[in-house]
Amino acid sequence: KGSCLEAVKIAIDAGYRHIDGAFVYFNEHEVGQAIREKIAEGKIKREDIFYCGKLWNTCHPPELVRPTLEKTLKILQLDYVDLYIIELPMAFKPGDALYPKDENGKFIYHETDLCATWEALEACKDAGLAKSIGVSNFNRRQLEMIMNKPGLKYKPVSNQVECHPYFTQPKLLEFCRQHDIVIVGYSPLGTSRDESWVNVSSPPLLKDPVLNAIGKKYNKTAAQIALRFNVQRGVVVIPKSFNPQRIRENFQIFDFSLTEKEMKEIEALNKNVRYVELLM
Ligand code: A2P
Repeated sequence: KGSCLEAVKIAIDAGYRHIDGAFVYFNEHEVGQAIREKIAEGKIKREDIFYCGKLWNTCHPPELVRPTLEKTLKILQLDYVDLYIIELPMAFKPGDALYPKDENGKFIYHETDLCATWEALEACKDAGLAKSIGVSNFNRRQLEMIMNKPGLKYKPVSNQVECHPYFTQPKLLEFCRQHDIVIVGYSPLGTSRDESWVNVSSPPLLKDPVLNAIGKKYNKTAAQIALRFNVQRGVVVIPKSFNPQRIRENFQIFDFSLTEKEMKEIEALNKNVRYVELLM
């Protein structure tokens, strides 16, 4: 309690403006409070902040989309989100349980039409509740399904997926570039390695010798090199930290550039193995 409030305030002071949130992180009230306090202080204006909210799996039926976003706005105490995205392409049974399971411990899925969910997001944009709309964890086929939807009003502006030097997403990145969809890379530092949701058989990214050697040259850490790599190839990064020093460190990536050779060396680290397997 309170740690998210502090972290977001420190981040805003350090210069961060893009805040990646979600209802299922259960801290939107603290994020909203941090933003509102910084606005009240005169440090920022609402329009300086880019807040991304997410539609959870239990809320895919179209009639649930707007009320769900309105709930997020109420928790945040904000009038709009800058970006609202479908968090995952699979739907769970609607209801109070966010991870509904049957008596055998299996997830209870729900049949919905992603295109209908998307139309409900389009309506949220038209209503001014979300400035932009996008998706997350979508593969090419799922993106195409939305983009080829008859009567499409707005295409997804972004697709948030796992992306870092050990999982560089070359094909999806190329596809998204061609279609003007921004890739937002989650787990850009290789995650917290929490075994309850992370595939820890993939080695720790920040111990990588190449990232550390390149870091030495620029007097930067492996974390800064990993973030700079993605930013330099047009991938948005959303590093997570609760530690004030590391929050600031992760922002100090705009005072140097990697050479083309270094970019290629880092690209070659790709193992094509996910930390976040999302087995559901
Ligand atoms: P902490 O919150 O204690 O800083 P990702 O962004 O890939 O999900 O990674 C998040 C994990 O990386 C968290 O465990 C976070 O821990 C840690 N972390 C964040 N920034 C750095 C950094 N600059 N160096 C090392 N570890 C970091």
